[in-house]
This record gives sequence, C-alpha cells and structure tokens, in this order.
Amino acid sequence: MKHIALYPGSFDPFTNGHLDILKRATNLFEKVIVTVAVNNEKKSVFSGMERIELIEECLKETEWGTRVEITQFTGLLVDHAKKMGARTLIRGVRQISDFEYEFRMALTNKRLSPTIDTIFLMPDEQLTFISASLVKEVAFWGGDLSSFVPKHVEKALKDKLQHSST
Ligand code: PNS
Repeated sequence: MKHIALYPGSFDPFTNGHLDILKRATNLFEKVIVTVAVNNEKKSVFSGMERIELIEECLKETEWGTRVEITQFTGLLVDHAKKMGARTLIRGVRQISDFEYEFRMALTNKRLSPTIDTIFLMPDEQLTFISASLVKEVAFWGGDLSSFVPKHVEKALKDKLQHSST
C-alpha cells in the first residue's frame, strides 16, 4: 500500500520554508498531498485556488514535484486526511516556540482520530525565521523578499497588496 502523507497549512503565501519542508516530506513518503486550509472566517491575502496555483508553480522547477498533489479543504483536518487516504500529517517546526501550538494541535487531531499520526520536520537552519505573516509585512512595505519566497510568489504578493491599497 502506498504510504501517503498530508501536509496541511494556510500557506498564505507558500514560502521557501514550506517548500523545504515539502521536499523533505517527499524524501520520506511515496506521495505527499499539500492541503490548503480554506477558512472563510480567517482573512487571507490569496484565495484557496490562488494559493494552489502558486504552490503548483513552485513544483514545476523540482524533480520530486510529480509525487505531490495539491488540494484544499474546509472543516476538520482529520476528516480530510481520511478522505485522501493519508495516515500521517506533516508539520514544520521552526523553533521551540512553535512547538506548544503544534503539540496541542497534534494531540487534538490524535484524540479525534487515533490512527492518524503527526510528524514534525525541521526546515534548513537558514529558513527557520521565515513566517508567512512576516513575509506579508515585508511585502506590504515593499521590502526585498527574494530570500523568503519564490520569485513568482513575491510578484503575486506585491501585485495583490498594491491592488488592495488602490
Ligand atoms: O499554517 P497554519 O495556519 O498554521 O495551519 C493550521 C491548520 C490549517 C493546519 C489548522 O488550523 C487546521 O488543521 N485547521 C482545520 C480545523 C481543524 O481540524 N482543527 C482541529 C485541529 S487543531
């Protein structure tokens, strides 16, 4: 049986840190499904479909992208994982301060669905400070994002923020 992992997140936007975690996950699993959480109550810069398209673009330049599928979901993560046939959830942990939230989330998911496990992966040390919220702040003020996100994400982010301010 194919072992499938699900890599969930808001990915608003997908950063170089996310890309690094995804690559590491494909080294461990035959197939990885990136799943974009679409929560109507959470204000996001990009729609679910836009986030999917930005992630697809990132994969074009990789040789492991063919083993990645991208979906979106609303509702409980464990329900989506079951629907997709995934028994493992992947989460990136950048520093100790991430861990408390991640641990609570993993335990909640385990209580909801005891057969689904969460695996934590660490990104490359150089990428540990990158967060989607800081990326948005730097983009808002027109800063250089070249070491934070892929080029097309930087362009999309700047287009979006410029568009929203007019
Ligand atoms: O990138 P994020 O915002 O840290 O991702 C968090 C996400 C979307 C994975 C998490 O909030 C989630 O799984 N939401 C779906 C609702 C759910 O299943 N909640 C119970 C687990 S805490």
